[in-house]
Order: sequence, then structure tokens, then C-alpha cells
Amino acid sequence: MKLAGIAAYGMPKVGHGALEGKKVFCSDMTFDATVNPVVYEGGEPIFIDTEYEAWNMDPVALEKAFELYPDVKVVVIAHLYGTPGKIDELNAIIKKHDAILVEDAAESMGATYKGVQTGTFGKYNTVFFNGNKIITGSSGGCFLTDDEEAANKVRKWSTQAGENADWYQHEELGYNYRMSNVIAGVVRGKFSYLNEHIAQKKAIYGGYKEGFKGLPVSMNPIDYENCEPNYWLSCLIIDKDAMCKQVRGEQDVCYIKEEGETCPTEILEAIASINAEGRPIWKPMHMQPIYRLNPFIT
Ligand SMILES: Cc1ncc(COP(=O)(O)O)c(C=O)c1O
Repeated sequence: MKLAGIAAYGMPKVGHGALEGKKVFCSDMTFDATVNPVVYEGGEPIFIDTEYEAWNMDPVALEKAFELYPDVKVVVIAHLYGTPGKIDELNAIIKKHDAILVEDAAESMGATYKGVQTGTFGKYNTVFFNGNKIITGSSGGCFLTDDEEAANKVRKWSTQAGENADWYQHEELGYNYRMSNVIAGVVRGKFSYLNEHIAQKKAIYGGYKEGFKGLPVSMNPIDYENCEPNYWLSCLIIDKDAMCKQVRGEQDVCYIKEEGETCPTEILEAIASINAEGRPIWKPMHMQPIYRLNPFIT
């Protein structure tokens, strides 16, 4: 059996095969919605490790990935938890290898890098309006590009690929990916509150930061050079030597209580007991059963 990765052993094809047999470099630390479309199109995601300064795709690992796979032409990056990735470094490598950047700005709408909004650096980009996002319409999202031909194609495919004819003419495979007019109306209504939401998220982040002072934990980074995040999510990691023993299986977890130590599960249980919501941060893609056999470049 060939174990070269998920695309190699017969995933159902649901796209146009635009990436058939091709490898695509993807952020490792993200939600799997960043990666699944690569597989829909017949591609094989290759996961690139994460740096510590912004918790995003590591340019050093990306450069190494191009050494290993010089033919790759597409790089998909997510801006984790609303902090922009290292755009200049990543873009310099991507351009050097004649590849294109695709940005998943689902979590980072309104965040800027050198004063420019995320979702505008790649050739093709997305933002999302799911219920938990900084601006929400309950679900759905937007495809962003300056390429008019691509925009027209996406518009067509998203509405069952109706051709420009007076009758229902279909010459290629289409999808029902359109945004409903109701959701569009809600999103437009909320759009003017984007800066207000960012300010509120910033205050929440600041509150946690203040409250965690002196504890053996650190929060997701927000202040690396040139970046202004949207503070979408406040995250925390526990210092290694303050962790009690915790073991995670695929769907279960077990830990041993220790005086002066803790683990994510214990904290999440404490939060749940006061009826507040907390979750583990994303489980990296290279650790997910569905993508475990795909290459991971550290
Ligand atoms: C990084 C990332 N990409 C994409 C999405 C969008 O997911 P979906 O396509 O399921 O709406 C999300 C969450 O909403 C996300 O966090």
C-alpha cells in the first residue's frame, strides 16, 4: 500500500481536479477548513511547521519545504487567531520559487500587516462569517481576489455553474456555495462594527493578560513587528514545567492532579463549572488522523 498521504489513496473527488497529483504547502496549525479544499481539488497537503513569534507558518520551514519539493506552486497560509503571519518573509520565498500565496484570513479579518489588511496579500484569499468570527452572518464567507477572470469563475461555480445563456445551460460542474441574500444583509449590517468588535476583543485579551501576570503561562503573540492583530481569540499555553501529567487519546483525555501544576483539561473543567466556554487550541493538522500520513516539514 502506498502511504504517501491522503490524496494518494482514493479520497472522493469533489472538485474540478485543479490540483490533481500536485503537492500544496499548507499551514499546520489551523482549522482543517484551510486544508480540505486542497484535497477536494485532488491535491496533497504538505504541512509546514509553525514559528513562535506569530504562531503562523514558519518561513524557515517553508524554505526547507521548497528544497524538498521544488515543484510546488501553491502555498496556503492561515493567520492564526487573528495575528498576521510573517507576510514579507513568506512572500519573498514564495516569489523566489515562482509559486502563489493563498490566504485563509477567516480568523484575521480587520488585522493588518504593515498597515494593510490580511486577505489582500495572496492571489486568492478568503474571509469567513461563521458564528464565532469577528463579523458574523451566522455562516459563509467571501472569496477575495484582484483577478477578475478568477472572480467570475468562482461566482459561476458557486451558483451551480450556470452559463451566460437565457436558459439553464451547464457546461461544467457547479456547486451551491453562494451566500444567501439574508446572510449578506446581516454581514453588511455588522460590517460597520468591525473596529468596535476589534476594540472589545483587544480589551478581553488585555484583561486576560493582566490576570495571568505572574503565572507560568503565556498568551498567543500579538506584538511582533509590523502587525496589528484583530485579537479574535485569547489563547494560553502552560509552561512545560507547570504541566501536570495529561494524556490525550483520539477522543478521550486523562490527567493526574498535582499541587501547583495544571493542564488544559483541568483548566477547561474549571471554566465549564462557571458556565463559561473554553477549548483546546487547534490540534495541528499533521497530528489529525485524516492527515497523519501527509508530509510535515519542521
Ligand atoms: C482558519 C479557518 N479557516 C476557515 C474557516 C471556515 O470554515 P468553514 O469553511 O467550515 O466555514 C474557519 C472557521 O470558521 C477557520 O478558523
